[in-house]
Amino acid sequence: MNFELSEDQQLLKKMVKEFAQKEIAPKAHLFEDKHEFPRELLAKLAELGILGMTVPAEYGGTKTNFLSLIIALEEISCISASLSVIVSVHCSLFCYAIQKFGSEMQKKKYLPKAAKGEIVGAFSLSEPGAGSDAINLKTRAVRQGDHYILNGTKSWVTSGSEAEASIIFATTKKEHGVKKLSAFIIEENFPGFHISKIEEKMGLHSSLTSEISLEDCKVPLENRLGEEGKGASIAFHCLDGSRIGIAAQAIGLANEALNEAVRYAKQREAFGKTISEFQAIQFMLADMATLIEASRLLAYKAAYLRDKGKPFSKEASMAKLFASEAAKKIVDQALQIHGGYGYSKEFFIEQLYRDARVFTLYEGTSEIQRLVISRHLLKE
Ligand code: CAA
Repeated sequence: MNFELSEDQQLLKKMVKEFAQKEIAPKAHLFEDKHEFPRELLAKLAELGILGMTVPAEYGGTKTNFLSLIIALEEISCISASLSVIVSVHCSLFCYAIQKFGSEMQKKKYLPKAAKGEIVGAFSLSEPGAGSDAINLKTRAVRQGDHYILNGTKSWVTSGSEAEASIIFATTKKEHGVKKLSAFIIEENFPGFHISKIEEKMGLHSSLTSEISLEDCKVPLENRLGEEGKGASIAFHCLDGSRIGIAAQAIGLANEALNEAVRYAKQREAFGKTISEFQAIQFMLADMATLIEASRLLAYKAAYLRDKGKPFSKEASMAKLFASEAAKKIVDQALQIHGGYGYSKEFFIEQLYRDARVFTLYEGTSEIQRLVISRHLLKE
């Protein structure tokens, strides 16, 4: 058993950390404050090869292994959780889905541009009435000769308003009362594709989240991703991987919350000494650090299994469940250590507290992760 990252992974971690501190940190809060999509920062990440990390070299990418992507997402999230989720969706949902299930034409058309950051990708499964119950989609796709006509509303789409192309899931038929889904690559300029709303969210303000309305949206047959009726398998297979990415996002943010708490505890004085000298504070810091380490081990193990081509769905859900719930506790304790100042926008912990709240919700709630884990246990 080896707990060391490879030399390449250590170099990557160092490179992304330095890059994030130098290039992302000075600007991330400006995009966050203005609720503005950080295109400029994405362009820099593209130059570094990060946006092509799930794209094979023959399509212009920098694909190595999945653990490396997880390491990069964690480092980006230490500085900007918004940027981390944008990159995660682009790499582990959009690019990965096309790389794994796409036709040669789709790979050649979308992957080189996505790897270079010339297009940003989104992934749209949820609907206003179908979040956890993801099969139960109202959006319909009806085949008419050499194209499909899609009608419906998709919601909570990360980067939906900014993406030049999105993978969108719709029902194509019903078999024995169960809806069968299909996946489509839909470009922003396809007729009938509209952004109907940008959500006003509690946190992750520079990661724009939108509602998409499809009104007789005409999609060429060649833009169906994978076989008709296999959409659910495509969606859940891709989500298995990207849930490890959300665990990494939670770990990076939680680590930053711990750093903020340590910094504050070492300089804030009460009762004649710094508060870091009180055992109540020390124990909170110890618990936070232990939760982070356990989250990281779960996430790295899930990524390792995936890289080895072994089953990893249960472990991905465990990593996502544990890391997202841990991050929620960690930001709460870090804010507690800041006392009243933690409630003020002057301190970064206020933003981290808000940003972390979504981790137990998106890409499958904690309840859905428990459902996936327990289904595996009962099957094994
Ligand atoms: N890998 C591959 N295929 C899978 C799979 C997996 N892990 N899990 C299920 N499938 C397949 C099944 O084999 C079945 O295939 P067929 O139709 O070919 O028979 C199909 O998917 C349906 O499977 P189930 O019958 O098990 O489906 P279910 O209705 O019981 O639901 C669920 C399972 C786990 C609850 C699922 O609905 C789920 O994960 N829900 C949560 C959805 C979710 O995570 N949404 C996140 C939205 S995306 C997002 O948030 C991105 C963002 O922008 C940040």
